[in-house]
Amino acid sequence: MANKKQKNGKKSKVRAAAKKSARKVVKLASSTKANGNGLPKPSSKPYGQAGLALQGVRILDFTHVQSGPTCTQLLAYMGADVIKVERPGAGDITRGQLRDVPNADSLYFTMLNGTKRSITIDSKHPKGMEILNRLIKTCDVLVENFAPGALDRMGLTWDYVHKLNPRMIVASVKGFGPGPYEDCKVYENVAQCAGGAASTTGFREGPPLVTGAQIGDSGTGLHLALGIVSALYQRIRTGRGQRVLCAMQDGVLNLTRVKLRDQQRLKHGPLTEFRQYGEGVPFGVAVPRGGNDSGGGQPGWILKCKGWENDPDAYLYFITQAPVWNEICDVIGEPEWKTHPDFATPKARLPRLTQIFGRIEQFTKTMTKFEAMDLFNKHDIPCGPILSMKEIADDESLRTTGTVVEVDHPTRGKYLTVGNPIKLSDSPADVRRSPLLGEHTEEILSKVLGYSASQIAEIKTSGAITAPDKSKAAA
Ligand code: COA
Repeated sequence: MANKKQKNGKKSKVRAAAKKSARKVVKLASSTKANGNGLPKPSSKPYGQAGLALQGVRILDFTHVQSGPTCTQLLAYMGADVIKVERPGAGDITRGQLRDVPNADSLYFTMLNGTKRSITIDSKHPKGMEILNRLIKTCDVLVENFAPGALDRMGLTWDYVHKLNPRMIVASVKGFGPGPYEDCKVYENVAQCAGGAASTTGFREGPPLVTGAQIGDSGTGLHLALGIVSALYQRIRTGRGQRVLCAMQDGVLNLTRVKLRDQQRLKHGPLTEFRQYGEGVPFGVAVPRGGNDSGGGQPGWILKCKGWENDPDAYLYFITQAPVWNEICDVIGEPEWKTHPDFATPKARLPRLTQIFGRIEQFTKTMTKFEAMDLFNKHDIPCGPILSMKEIADDESLRTTGTVVEVDHPTRGKYLTVGNPIKLSDSPADVRRSPLLGEHTEEILSKVLGYSASQIAEIKTSGAITAPDKSKAAA
């Protein structure tokens, strides 16, 4: 971990301590006092007051757009000191994309770069490379998601980085792994298509569909975060860094693995849990789009609720879970289905799913999605309301758990962000606003890299941390 010593924050101010922790110095895990088994002595501090899970890990964050930034933001929430390196004058392209407030960093940027520090460095400037070299020596992990070859073109090849800092973990997101497409640039929807998600999403009669969940970008960022913490853990034993690669196609496929399961099942007959089976539509050679069919062994569908004519989200996802079939029959007013040979067993029901869900929908249309949720859950019947983003933004319980967090930003004001969806019982999440472009440049140069005031003054005039002067460039 970064070569620093830990100080303790005040007991009652966990959050404040969490904020400070990124700046604090920590002991190496391997140098903590052993308890006789070679393991660190258990902390005597109460749960939640022993610092953050990744405290002491320092990350050189060369990420941009979404996939990489999601990964490093999560690591920052967990306590890592994430230093985001951005191009002087421009920064991460998303700062200016989909802007809602003039001259302020967009929500696209702010919601993916919370709790990080920003330093501007021109990596193609000799002085900029000198600063980067110092950063490489002091960081534990370099994370990047440039187009294939861009990091090497900067001169930061694995061999170069590894030689400078043999403990450095170099983690990358690329669109594709080694193979025919390895040199291609990739964005979210390309990954959804190449990873098998789009061909299996949507309705049978319609074209392939991409999903709103960013499984290509944020999904791969999550995979990368797991790769990084695994590599950090292995480094405790080996003392050396390694490369971590997550291809977006692989990440999407991992999240779509149930469809590869179904592809293999197809060899042995039709997929009986798909409505298509009951409707007598033959299956082709590949897994079809299943609409809202459940991907698991318990058939489900989306049903209209009261108000559906005017409210696009007045729907409920309903699952005909076999163990509660009798309860379902009683609640919807079809008690004879409990023993009727056409409905009594899961197998008998499969060819009749359209009829069954049609009947349940007659019932759900008489109540709102929330009334239906309450009623069915009293009987232990699994279901869920289709929540709009407005309902999620207003949801009190998501605020209480810190999954939705409001933060304040100096130029755009208050905004909502998604906090840490992973809850650790001994590590509070550190969720703060995103940095302004280059906000921490001087702080990092002096406090992290040890440059003196006169050296910083020299760096400032060198052009390594400032945008090129356009008038000079034109002349
Ligand atoms: N100083 C100087 N140059 C910098 C810099 C800095 N601080 N930071 C970046 N650059 C340069 C790089 O060196 C590179 O230049 P080069 O191509 O001349 O070598 C360039 O900026 C960035 O390149 P690139 O990553 O190709 O950006 P792009 O906007 O053309 O492509 C992607 C964007 C997302 C398509 C591409 O980065 C990509 O495919 N990434 C991998 C997959 C991925 O993560 N996709 C999901 C994005 S959400």
